[in-house]
Amino acid sequence: MRWMDTLVQEAEAWLPAPVMTYFRQGAGAGLSAAEAEAHWDALRLLPHVLRDVSDVSTRTAVLGTSVDTPVLVAPTTLQRQAHEEGEAAMVRGAADAGSLVCVSSNAGTPFGALAGSGPWWVQAYVLRDRQLTLEMLGRARQAGARAVVLTADTPVVGEKYGNGPSVWETVPDDHLMANVAWRGVEDTQLEKAADLTPATIDWLRTATGLPVVVKGVLRADDARECVAAGASAVWVSNHGGRQLDGAVATARALRPVADALAGTGAELYVDGGIRTGRHALVALALGATAVFVGRPTLWALAVDGAAGVTRLLTELTAELAHAMALAGAPDVASVTRDLVHDASPTRHRS
Ligand SMILES: Cc1cc2nc3c(=O)[nH]c(=O)nc-3n(C[C@H](O)[C@H](O)[C@H](O)COP(=O)(O)O)c2cc1C
Repeated sequence: MRWMDTLVQEAEAWLPAPVMTYFRQGAGAGLSAAEAEAHWDALRLLPHVLRDVSDVSTRTAVLGTSVDTPVLVAPTTLQRQAHEEGEAAMVRGAADAGSLVCVSSNAGTPFGALAGSGPWWVQAYVLRDRQLTLEMLGRARQAGARAVVLTADTPVVGEKYGNGPSVWETVPDDHLMANVAWRGVEDTQLEKAADLTPATIDWLRTATGLPVVVKGVLRADDARECVAAGASAVWVSNHGGRQLDGAVATARALRPVADALAGTGAELYVDGGIRTGRHALVALALGATAVFVGRPTLWALAVDGAAGVTRLLTELTAELAHAMALAGAPDVASVTRDLVHDASPTRHRS
């Protein structure tokens, strides 16, 4: 039995119902959240035979950081609701699996507590108050964040509906935005900025001195525009179906974005419904440099803290290595487009 297959049920035993609902839910009618995984499942492989796969390596690099696995951790809020050690356990657990974490700008853990515990990037929601945003990013940089991930799909927060009490009624203040000096600031200033443009990319790059990744891209034209505006990488995501409900599945959006970025040198990531090593293999074959996993990392954190995160990522990586062996691909460089049945012959890896 794969741990992934029982993980949600195990997490349910640990988490209060409003937290469980919040982690699980999608926006609107939940269309995009419900279908993400099925679109990865629907893609078929064309494995090679007679390749030496006696030694399979999943090692790669993302924006200059070496990782043992291309299975990385997506940013999620309220990690301290999953486990008292929250983001600190997430980063430690991922590092023990040779992985990397993108830490939410809403994190309930002071960034200083992450320093030296493993490689991490900081995700940025740009707030209406730009100064508060820059101060938050300054703290991240000081604590060792190696890139800024600009979440671009959230000019307003997607409406989510639930039956019971909302998680926001129960979360203690110190689990919220521990790195934003929000006390005494007007609520409107803490809202997400709705006036971002491609120029925001260069503003962030200049202000932080860090490479900028744009998260939430689903279109080829937007991807090209982001890179032209200075992004080092593009992250195909529909926010786990939590923003515009009905936004296309990332398994479908990835290929045209990869084609649009061919030859630019930009890296490409994807998330949404990635639950097996085979899903990761398909994503890499379609042109992703790495994949990110969201909800399952919260379940693993809830069930067993840092050790749970390590176990989850290690098992997914072992599945990926197994799938690579069966596909005749001994390393990530040999996971090329032609491994996906019916994919166009363009081969792209940034
Ligand atoms: C509970 C929860 C909180 C999230 N918080 C953030 C966040 O703070 N910033 C962000 O860019 N994305 C956030 N996301 C989106 C994830 O980074 C990611 O895009 C998505 O979860 C990937 O899909 P998956 O959960 O199917 O793996 C959140 C997702 C969930 C489930």
